[in-house]
Order: sequence, then structure tokens, then C-alpha cells
Amino acid sequence: MAGNVLVGGGTGFVGNHLCKVLRNKGYGVNVVSRMPGPHHVSWNEINSTGLPSGTSAVVNLAGQNVMDFRRRWTPGFKQNVFSSRVNTTSALARAIENASVKPKVFVTMSGISGYRPDDDVEYSEDSPIEQFDFFSKLCLNWENAAALDPVSASKCRTVTVRSGVVLGKHGGMIKQLYLPFFLGLGGPVGDGSQYMPWIHIHDLAGLITFALESEHVRGVLNAVAPQVTTNGDFTRAFARALKRPAVIPVPAFVFNLVLGAERAKMVTAGPKVLPKRARALGYEFSYPTVEAACEAVVKEA
Ligand SMILES: NC(=O)c1ccc[n+]([C@@H]2O[C@H](COP(=O)([O-])OP(=O)(O)OC[C@H]3O[C@@H](n4cnc5c(N)ncnc54)[C@H](OP(=O)(O)O)[C@@H]3O)[C@@H](O)[C@H]2O)c1
Repeated sequence: MAGNVLVGGGTGFVGNHLCKVLRNKGYGVNVVSRMPGPHHVSWNEINSTGLPSGTSAVVNLAGQNVMDFRRRWTPGFKQNVFSSRVNTTSALARAIENASVKPKVFVTMSGISGYRPDDDVEYSEDSPIEQFDFFSKLCLNWENAAALDPVSASKCRTVTVRSGVVLGKHGGMIKQLYLPFFLGLGGPVGDGSQYMPWIHIHDLAGLITFALESEHVRGVLNAVAPQVTTNGDFTRAFARALKRPAVIPVPAFVFNLVLGAERAKMVTAGPKVLPKRARALGYEFSYPTVEAACEAVVKEA
């Protein structure tokens, strides 16, 4: 399926990587961004004039960075985190509904926070998600915002990608952890026993591309590596890849103090999530283990 892909938030950590992959495969790529630039479209243009003509697929990766530690967890910031995901997804859904020629597919992001952390429960795409805190509410609203009216839905496949922590050198969690781990100051969060579903950025871009190109793929895909991993497993693998010790645990209360308890749950707790459908539908992970993923991250230029 070559064609023109419109990527909301295509300037970010994941977006940058995905756009490169798509361009290398011969796709035309336009990005929806708040900033002007070549091949950039503004959110105002999406709202007023709709999709650029010839758009054959739409992806949304926009969202205020939750783990921007410079930003305090205030009501205003939380609103920004929420609306930057829900409103942009909804804007693209309305633009698809209003397009006279519909794109073939609409791929949107979500997280794994709708799965309530519980050591006794293993979640797959078949598990219902529920609202029990800020991030689960966000995931529910984010996913609902992607829903199309029945006529549009019959012409445009929709795929929801529920992503775990994305591992790559140039953004997300690794960007925050690289220096302390490099200095030998890294360590597990609390006792490190909490699950930490993750995916290597190469596999996330791969899975999104797979969703764009595979007509049999629709509905939810858990974008998490098949290896069940705890925060302690990740800590050991990342430290080993950097050839550094990582023995000093950071108590959960430190994260609660620095990030705010609500936001700190992103690192102090986690559900056990498997990519059952992604594998059943035929996606093969390039980085199935956290050891291989961390080695690759450290070697990345
Ligand atoms: N990274 C992870 O570990 C992870 C895990 C699970 C889910 N996700 C989700 O995957 C998506 C991409 O993640 P990422 O790490 O690539 O994020 P990112 O680097 O922070 O980039 C996201 C993009 O969203 C746009 N954006 C930021 N704030 C915005 C706002 N207030 N209103 C509208 N647009 C805004 C920005 O584009 P412009 O500045 O060009 O407008 C930015 O380039 C996000 O929705 C994120 O929630 C990420």
C-alpha cells in the first residue's frame, strides 16, 4: 500500500522514527504539527479545511509529554495531557468523516493504563479496559475519540495501538534515564517487582506500519514486547548494556514527591500485558527480549 500518510504528532520521538520508516518505504508523509515546516499541516487547517487531498492513511501520535519532569503535575498540565491526545484524535476522526474520499485506514495511539495493575491478572487485547484513575480515564476517552460514524467506519479501517514504554535512545524514558545510568547511579524503582510493559521503538514503528499495510488488521493491538518484564529486569538489562552497576534502588516515595503520586504510578506500578493479537495476526517482533532491546538502544547513534 504506498500512498500518502498523514501523521499527527509526527515531529515527536515516535513520529520522527515512523516518518523515516514510511519515507524509506516510498510513502509520501505529511505531519500535523503546532509548528510550521515543510510538509507540515496545522491543526487549524485540519479543523477548517480537512485532510490534505490524496491522504490514504492517517496516524495520530500527538500528545503532551507526560514524563516531562520540568513540568509540575498541576490541573492545567493534566488538562493539556488529556486534551492534546483526545482533541487531536477527535479532530482527525471528524476530518476523516468529512472527507469525500476516505483514507483506507486510521491508526491511533493509546496506552496500557486502562489495564489495572494486578499481579494475578494477565491482560491481552481481549481484556476489557476500565476507568479507575486519571490515566485509565485518559485511555478510555482517547480510544473513544477515534470512533468513526458507521458510514466512515465501513470505508476506513481503524486500529488502536496500546503502547507500553517505548525504548529508544532519543526520547521517552531512556532519554531521562541515560545519564544517571551512565554515571552508575541507576537502580530499580522501589523493589523493582512491578511489571513494565515496553516495546523497542523499531517494533512500535514496525507494528504501526504493519497495521497500515495489512487489510486484515483492525481493532486493538497491544504494542508491548512478548517477554513479560519487570522494572527490575529492565534495570538489570539496561545497566548491563551500559556496562554499569545499577544497584541502588530509588524508593517509590521519591517518585511520588518529584512527579506527583498520580503521575508516578506510571513507573511505580504496571500491569502484565501480552501482545496476543499482534502475534496472532502475524507481526514478528525484532526485539522480543529486554536484553536485546537495551543492547540495541545503547548501540544506537
Ligand atoms: N514514548 C512512550 O514511551 C509512549 C508510551 C505509550 C504511549 N505513547 C504515546 O505515543 C504518542 C507519541 O509519543 P512520543 O514519545 O513520540 O511523544 P513526544 O515525543 O512527546 O511527541 C508527541 C508530539 O505531540 C505533539 N504535541 C505535544 N504537545 C502537544 C499539545 N499540547 N497539543 C498538540 N500536540 C502536542 C508534538 O508535536 P508538535 O510540537 O509538532 O505539535 C510532539 O512532537 C503519544 O501520544 C504518547 O502518549 C508514548
